[in-house]
Amino acid sequence: MKEIKIETTLYIYEDLDALPKDIMLLMQKAFEARKNAYAPYSNFNVGAALLLDNGEIITGNNQENASYPSGLCAERTAIYYAGSQYPKAKIVRMAISAGSKNNQTTKPIPPCGACRQAIAEYEIKQDANIEIYFMGETGKVAKSNSLANLLPLGFDKSVL
Ligand code: THU
Repeated sequence: MKEIKIETTLYIYEDLDALPKDIMLLMQKAFEARKNAYAPYSNFNVGAALLLDNGEIITGNNQENASYPSGLCAERTAIYYAGSQYPKAKIVRMAISAGSKNNQTTKPIPPCGACRQAIAEYEIKQDANIEIYFMGETGKVAKSNSLANLLPLGFDKSVL
């Protein structure tokens, strides 16, 4: 029997102001997108902003549904829109901010497993890393240099 250890690396910024200017602006787009989330069931609003290599910024937010599983997370709303409108563009980075109407979120909120899987597909498709920055409403910002670092042992087309 052999043990395998998997390590990953995240970088933590103290707050929004500690981010490089262009990243801060992208995160502010995620804040704006969060305001338009439709989340009457969870009261948990998420905004995502993507920078494409053609300079476009695409945003998305979570869209819930009375039939709960029919809703969609912010990250996938944004990434699928980007994929549908700019199929040839590469995604450089994604900024995510999550906030609850029930209590203030002060720690970085990572993308859910389904969103990680969806983002991983695009990272493989474009053969280039996607940087992921995520935070709550306030507080520290976490950065991953690639989606792959957030999804060890990912499932991808190589096994099909
Ligand atoms: N949500 C996102 O938008 N992104 C995530 O990565 C995690 C969860 C949304 C889905 C749902 O509308 C609400 O947050 C509560 O789960």
